[in-house]
Amino acid sequence: MAEHLSQSELDYPFKLLEYFNGFRVSKVIFSACELGVFDLLLKAQEPLSAQHVALELSTSEDGMERLLDALVGMEILEVETTDGTALYSSSDVANLYLAKGSGKSLHDMIIYQSQTIYPLWNNLVDAVREGKNQNEKTFGLPPEDIFQAVYRSEEEMLKFMGLMNSSWILDGHDIATAFNLSCFQKIVDLGGCTGALAREMAKAYPSSSVTVFDLPPVVETAQKHFCQEDDAVLFQSGDFFSGDVPPADLYVLARIIHDWPEEKCLMLLKKLYDACKPGGGVLLVEAMLFENRRGPVTAQIFSLNMLVQMEGRERPPSGYTSILNKVGFHNVQVCRTGKSYDAILAVR
Ligand SMILES: C[S@@+](CC[C@H](N)C(=O)[O-])C[C@H]1O[C@@H](n2cnc3c(N)ncnc32)[C@H](O)[C@@H]1O
Repeated sequence: MAEHLSQSELDYPFKLLEYFNGFRVSKVIFSACELGVFDLLLKAQEPLSAQHVALELSTSEDGMERLLDALVGMEILEVETTDGTALYSSSDVANLYLAKGSGKSLHDMIIYQSQTIYPLWNNLVDAVREGKNQNEKTFGLPPEDIFQAVYRSEEEMLKFMGLMNSSWILDGHDIATAFNLSCFQKIVDLGGCTGALAREMAKAYPSSSVTVFDLPPVVETAQKHFCQEDDAVLFQSGDFFSGDVPPADLYVLARIIHDWPEEKCLMLLKKLYDACKPGGGVLLVEAMLFENRRGPVTAQIFSLNMLVQMEGRERPPSGYTSILNKVGFHNVQVCRTGKSYDAILAVR
């Protein structure tokens, strides 16, 4: 970063100003999503005026016109002026990722970022000062019970599960195929939430059985809202800290280790080591930091998110290797996918 921001930024701080504006850029997209702009433009199948969009979505005309113009400037919408009237239409990217209906929609990810992460990040200064999450200040919930805060209402649970589900629309296939896992007959995705990653595993390894293990209310909600009748994965409920884990040849832990303090991670990994037969393994899925501390900036920002919301952190490969080795796992292999999430495989 220091290199990038050196000479030319001294003349005029373009990049710095762009960073300052980052939260507004996010909020423009989030607000358009929450108001239903992308869904309306997709449904309309023809360019619409700001007046028309405002009327349909019950907003002020002036506010909507400014929002649509900002989205044009960000190259998310397109505009043509006919007879003095600006007519707005969606881009292919907006139709694919920002409207609700498409199979690749990131709508749920956006809603969670806007309504839960954004208020938490308002307290980032205090999180850094105090070195702990801001669930108490933001939501009035005790900092030590992180999932009580995450699941503080049925609505919040659904939103969080929607967020978790969205990530695997983008990265699921790359993670499932980062290593050849076909030698593992029984795969258990611990804290597997909606089953989105587990389904990618089941698709990639059709002769293996894949089970999602999660807390009872999460399994109940997953089965009600995220499962199909002929689902390729099984669900089992329990608590991976206080109870037993189902037997497996491979335990998948996607975005689990980054939630918890090191002592809890070691306790869980030791439990899995004891539950594994020789040759069994664990697959950790996380956004990995570079060893030289220089990025990726998304993983560094995720690590701050873990501070603001959870009790854990992101790590570089050596951090994962160290905790895996401490409990006895060896042959640690790392696969960087080049996308948001990476995979680490270790065996007993
Ligand atoms: C950050 S989410 C990751 C979800 C999923 N693995 C993914 O990457 O999309 C953490 C998951 O762990 C589950 N979880 C938290 N504590 C748990 C426990 N004690 N036993 C079982 N599951 C737990 C949560 O319900 C949630 O689904």
